[in-house]
Amino acid sequence: MVSKQEILGQKIMKRIHIHDKDQGGILSLTTGSQGSAKTSVLLSFAEYILKHHSTEKIFWSECYKAPLQIVKLGKGKYRFFVKNDVDIIFRDRDNKLKPTKIPITRFKDYDDLYKKAKMGKVNVVFFGNRLYWMEFLDYLRSVGEWVHIFIDEFGEVCPAYASGKSWKKIGYFSEDVLKDIRKCMMNVHVNTQSVTNIDHRARSKIMLKIFLPGAISDKHSRVTQAAIDNLKRDPIHGNPAYLDIRGEFGVVTFKDIYKPIKGFHIDAICNGGEREMSFILSFNGDKT
Ligand SMILES: Nc1ncnc2c1ncn2[C@@H]1O[C@H](COP(=O)(O)OP(=O)(O)OP(=O)(O)O)[C@@H](O)[C@H]1O
Ligand SMILES: [Mg+2]
Repeated sequence: MVSKQEILGQKIMKRIHIHDKDQGGILSLTTGSQGSAKTSVLLSFAEYILKHHSTEKIFWSECYKAPLQIVKLGKGKYRFFVKNDVDIIFRDRDNKLKPTKIPITRFKDYDDLYKKAKMGKVNVVFFGNRLYWMEFLDYLRSVGEWVHIFIDEFGEVCPAYASGKSWKKIGYFSEDVLKDIRKCMMNVHVNTQSVTNIDHRARSKIMLKIFLPGAISDKHSRVTQAAIDNLKRDPIHGNPAYLDIRGEFGVVTFKDIYKPIKGFHIDAICNGGEREMSFILSFNGDKT
């Protein structure tokens, strides 16, 4: 028997995948304990778009100094893009972190990147500092086409406890860009282990919360901590999760299992260190 919560879960999943200009875009946050399939949830959404909306552009933000998650989708489904003045080194984790060559496309600015980004592929972008994603989302609001953005470990893009210029930049990003996602043709899916990693101004703009096993509920959600604590990890059939969209909630199982692909453990580092925040402010004009 399908429970009421499962039916509601399916209804909310449809809301994620249906692109309706009247309903607008969506901003989702997936949380859960370490290894609870947070990244896999994002991969499953990206794969759905590749399959069902192959004429829409998808952008993916990876962490530095961590295994590239996108490779779990399998070869041929993604492309790498690197800003033209940034030195990104890809290292082979199966070969003592020796630099390895992988095909990349260079771009000079956001217009150039958007033009070069491929439809039917996940476009994985390296700006040299993950904070640039705040500006890129700002840019994407006005491209006039449905776009999809996936940000793994959102706490690195919109960190809690930033200071100075970064704090101001995050303020603009939260109050102006994230607040507007629903009005744009833009779906943004992010994840983090704990919501406390994210700036509080951004937290309040999240429209859909996905709680995987081990997640901490929040005081604005109707999903109780006891309910989340009852979610059991299932590495065979997929992990269950609660979905909460503005007070309405349901349960789903994420059945697609994404495992590391043997022999393809690559990470990316920015040679010479990540670019400074001051560069970011001049990259596309200072809007703070
Ligand atoms: N849908 C799924 N359901 C259950 N287990 C999964 C699922 N997808 C992947 N897994 C398993 O769980 C492991 C961790 O998945 P994933 O990397 O997505 O978790 P994570 O929460 O992002 O981890 P981290 O906390 O390290 O970022 C995978 O290596 C795989 O073995
Ligand atoms: Mg992860």
